[in-house]
Amino acid sequence: MKAIVIYKSKYGSTKAYAQKIAQCLGCEAVDAKSVKAKELEGYDTIIYGGGLYAEIIGGVSLITKNYDLLSGKKLAVFTTGITPIDCREYYDDMVVCKNFKPHMLEKIRVFNFPGKMIMGELTAVHRAAIKTLKKIMSSKENPTEMETMLIKLCDADGDFTDFKAIDELIDYVVE
Ligand SMILES: Cc1cc2nc3c(=O)[nH]c(=O)nc-3n(C[C@H](O)[C@H](O)[C@H](O)COP(=O)(O)O)c2cc1C
Repeated sequence: MKAIVIYKSKYGSTKAYAQKIAQCLGCEAVDAKSVKAKELEGYDTIIYGGGLYAEIIGGVSLITKNYDLLSGKKLAVFTTGITPIDCREYYDDMVVCKNFKPHMLEKIRVFNFPGKMIMGELTAVHRAAIKTLKKIMSSKENPTEMETMLIKLCDADGDFTDFKAIDELIDYVVE
């Protein structure tokens, strides 16, 4: 197997998972900034990781825009975020649907890992975005269960990284 792990990470949580996965697989973890789609032709297994920002997987267009070029390979995408990883309704309806066309999911396996959000580390723009999101959602008269969860998550402040979460991805890649 010739594998590569590619990541886009603003605050380090996705990078930490990428490095751990690469260590387990005995391959390289590379910042997406320095990767061109053409260079991926020589790999048979591609693992892409991106932090979640407003349900968008950072930099995942490297995979989705080049899907036709890459679809013959084993493909896994992982995300890191603060939404509880067992909250499938949120993840499947809002993250997976937004980032992938349905046919891509026949080839791409998607995994979600707990990330980190430390308020003191966020840029002023990101802190303001979280504050605004909380204000908008809190102003709703009858928030749905999911909105109530998202309002609570705006107050998350911590590192929820759990490297045990990668086991499922590793099993998929080596199977
Ligand atoms: C502005 C902003 C928006 C975010 N949006 C989401 C989101 O939609 N879903 C989620 O689960 N986490 C969200 N998060 C949390 C980040 O995804 C989480 O902190 C992640 O671990 C960041 O990855 P990184 O450290 O590799 O940059 C958001 C964080 C910020 C600051």
